[in-house]
Amino acid sequence: MIYNGIEDKVAIITGAGMGIGYAIAELLLQNGACVVINDVDKEVVENALISLEEKFPDKCSVFVGDAADIDLIDRLVRFTLKQYNRIDFVIPNAGITLFGDFFKFKPEEFDKVIGLNLKGAFFLVQKTGEIMKTQGRGGRVVLMSSITGIKGYPDLTAYSMTKAALQMMARSLVLALAPYQITVNAIAPGATLTERTEKEEPDYAGTWGKLIPSGVVGEPKDMAETCLFLLSDGAAHINGQTLVVDGGWTAIGRYPKDLD
Ligand SMILES: NC(=O)c1ccc[n+]([C@@H]2O[C@H](COP(=O)([O-])OP(=O)(O)OC[C@H]3O[C@@H](n4cnc5c(N)ncnc54)[C@H](O)[C@@H]3O)[C@@H](O)[C@H]2O)c1
Repeated sequence: MIYNGIEDKVAIITGAGMGIGYAIAELLLQNGACVVINDVDKEVVENALISLEEKFPDKCSVFVGDAADIDLIDRLVRFTLKQYNRIDFVIPNAGITLFGDFFKFKPEEFDKVIGLNLKGAFFLVQKTGEIMKTQGRGGRVVLMSSITGIKGYPDLTAYSMTKAALQMMARSLVLALAPYQITVNAIAPGATLTERTEKEEPDYAGTWGKLIPSGVVGEPKDMAETCLFLLSDGAAHINGQTLVVDGGWTAIGRYPKDLD
C-alpha cells in the first residue's frame, strides 16, 4: 500500500531493533521516509540497520541507548536534526512488559515500567513536539498502547496502567499540539507475534490465537500498516484517538455458560 504524505518525512522510532518498531521502520522506508531507529540493544539494532541499509541506502540511522533516559532523548533528537535537518513523525514504541504478582511487585520494578513506558514517551513527545512546533509544518505522534490498557489482566497491573495512561496522553495532548497541526494518536495492539512473545511462548500463535475470534494473532506488519495510516495525509483529521488492532479480541463478551 502506498501512503500519501510519508515521502521525504523524517521519523524517530524507539525500541525499533526488532518487533513492531522494526516493522514500522521498514514500512516507513518503503514509503520514502528517513528513519532514526533507537534501541537499547546495540547488537540487535546494528543488525537491523544492516538489513535496512541494504534495501534503503542512506535513509536510515541508528541511535543506541535507553529510551527511558532523558539525556538520551535529548541526544537522540539532536542527532536526528543533525542527520536529516527535520523531524516530522515520532513513535515512542519502546516498552517493557513486566509481569509480577501485585503483592510482591517491587518499587524498583514499578519505576522501571513507568520510566520507559510513560516517562520516556512523555519526554520524547515533549522534546520533538517543540521541534515540530518551531518547524511550522505540522507533525504526527503515534503512541504504542495495548489492549491491556483497556482490560485488566492478572500480574500486569503496572504495565496496564502505563498503557491506559498512554491513551489518555493521546487525548490530553490534543490541546497542546493540535494548534500546530500536530496529531497525536495511539495504537492498542492485541496479542502480536514478535521475536520476544515467541520466546516467552514458543506456540504463541496457537496459544493466543484461541482468544481471538478469527483464531489469528497479530503480526508486527499489522501494527505497522495502522501506524503508517495514522502518519499519512489520510489521517490528518484523526486526533486524540486510540485504534485497537486485536483481530476482534476485545470486541467480544462472554456469557456465564461460556465459563463451563
Ligand atoms: N508484542 C505484543 O504482543 C504487544 C502487544 C501490545 C502492546 N505491545 C507494545 O508494543 C511495543 C513494541 O512491542 P514489541 O513486542 O515489538 O517489543 P519488544 O519487547 O520485542 O522490544 C522491541 C525492542 O525494544 C528494545 N528495547 C527494550 N527496552 C528498551 C529501552 N529501554 N530503550 C530502547 N529500546 C528498548 C528491545 O531491545 C527490542 O529490540 C511495546 O511498547 C509493547 O508494550 C506489544
